[in-house]
Amino acid sequence: MLKTKTIMDVETIRKDFPILQRKVHGKPLVYFDNAATSQKPKEVIDALDFYYNNYNANVHRSIHQLGEEATAAYEKAREKIAEFINAQYEEVIFTKNSTEGLNLLAYSLTSGLKQGDEIVISQLEHHSNFVPWQQMAKHLGLKLKFIEINENAELDEESIKKNITKKTKIVSIGHISNAIGTINPVEDIARITHENGALMIVDGSQAAPHIPLDMKKIDSDFYVFTGHKMLGPTGVGVVYGKKELLEASRPFLYGGEMINEVKFDDTTFNKLPWKFEAGTPNIAEGIGLGVAVDYLTKVGMQNILNRDRELLDYAMEKIKEIDGITVYGPKERASILSFNVKGVHAHDVSQILDSEGVAIRAGHHCCMPLMSVLGISATARASFYLYNTEQEVDTFINAIHKVKKIFGV
Ligand code: ALA
Repeated sequence: MLKTKTIMDVETIRKDFPILQRKVHGKPLVYFDNAATSQKPKEVIDALDFYYNNYNANVHRSIHQLGEEATAAYEKAREKIAEFINAQYEEVIFTKNSTEGLNLLAYSLTSGLKQGDEIVISQLEHHSNFVPWQQMAKHLGLKLKFIEINENAELDEESIKKNITKKTKIVSIGHISNAIGTINPVEDIARITHENGALMIVDGSQAAPHIPLDMKKIDSDFYVFTGHKMLGPTGVGVVYGKKELLEASRPFLYGGEMINEVKFDDTTFNKLPWKFEAGTPNIAEGIGLGVAVDYLTKVGMQNILNRDRELLDYAMEKIKEIDGITVYGPKERASILSFNVKGVHAHDVSQILDSEGVAIRAGHHCCMPLMSVLGISATARASFYLYNTEQEVDTFINAIHKVKKIFGV
């Protein structure tokens, strides 16, 4: 990961996020729960407001001025997202979120599989990239295999090679672990997957907000992410898929707008990308995600990546000075700091930090299987983003000292 000093002006960026001005329990908000959802810049909030105040209409149906404006803005957003990830326009499918995207793929891609076929995921996965595969495997008699993590909490190279074989049909791996920040070698895994004739999916929920993405370079067959973690609204996500594979795949949701022609005895489907977009979509949210992508592009994804690294390094240095702290995850990681304070439950840590205005997440982070591998039930997790500062990290560290003081540990 690059370590060059960033050229971002954090104070200017902070002014774009109205919520950062608020106080929580009388203290300035320190928002370190970015892996759960990011805050939104004013441009994004305004885009939603402007849509509802000025051109609210359904897309792809209504032949009137408002309908045309809404359709143009919605499809423009798709175009921007395609450019953002270096994909083609038809390869960008709007979904509700990553969970829906992964369910879409789990249903669609398993439809031709037969009993005994193998699917490979890893011990690091979020439940959204775990439960759909587990349940499809149960229903269809498929075999679900898990790439194990090593002592550094990274995917074990031997385990990758051992689990992905000629029997594998689908490999689905998170790009970055939401629970402990591990960055997985998805390009290498995609290569191994393809050498074995299988399809590769990447759950990029935690990567799309933080690192420059290039679909051609990663060469995964499918890549899934959600808008709300990358400055966009809730209710909109993306499935990227290679065009020829999307063409060949079965739709997941059936209904309005995903059709070409419906007769009493059969239906033909719409062209890409609409074949996978049944029903009225989240229009304002899609448009808002396009504006979020504009914002991220303006700041520069490489700058965001560098800034994440600076904040993480600073926080790691400070937290290591405190006795009785266990930090989970590898040395080289994304801007996710997962930890426990000896003798204190993570929920209590979170509650005391909240009393100081510091918002983090505590719990299993929707990764119960990973927690069992780590031999714990929960962690406290601070996750950073482009508007966070070193001063906020200091507040966070002081709040951890307060936790220790209250619990006498
Ligand atoms: N997946 C989100 C998180 O890790 C909600 O917090």
